[in-house]
Amino acid sequence: MIKKVNHIGIAVNDLDATMKAVKDIFGVEVAGVEEVPSQKVKVAFVPVGDTRLEFLEPTAEDSPIAKFLASRGEGMHHIALETDDVAGDLKKAEEGGARLIDREPRPGAHGTKVGFLHPKSTFGVLMELVEEAGEH
Ligand code: CO
Repeated sequence: MIKKVNHIGIAVNDLDATMKAVKDIFGVEVAGVEEVPSQKVKVAFVPVGDTRLEFLEPTAEDSPIAKFLASRGEGMHHIALETDDVAGDLKKAEEGGARLIDREPRPGAHGTKVGFLHPKSTFGVLMELVEEAGEH
């Protein structure tokens, strides 16, 4: 079941410069930086109340984030909805008419399981389903 907005993903060119800017502009600190090999990105999460901003920098030229930056530049990349059953909700999404990027959950940051829906089927916005570690 979908529970809330887990995070909003923003693609950036330089994570270090971004973290400094986020602190200078909003006065908020990064909770931690982590590399996610399955998506060829380095990510930094910034807690904002009940949700978070996720900043993503590509670690390889064939990273999906590198392609996004090359075609559109920095900007909002995806919205992640939290679920307690990512596999089940991917299936439901497909039954409901969504085009899946991930047919099966794959590892995300911080031990999460994630799956993406194609933006063509979700209002032009790339949607991520994310299940926090230890929920299942
Ligand atoms: Co994300």
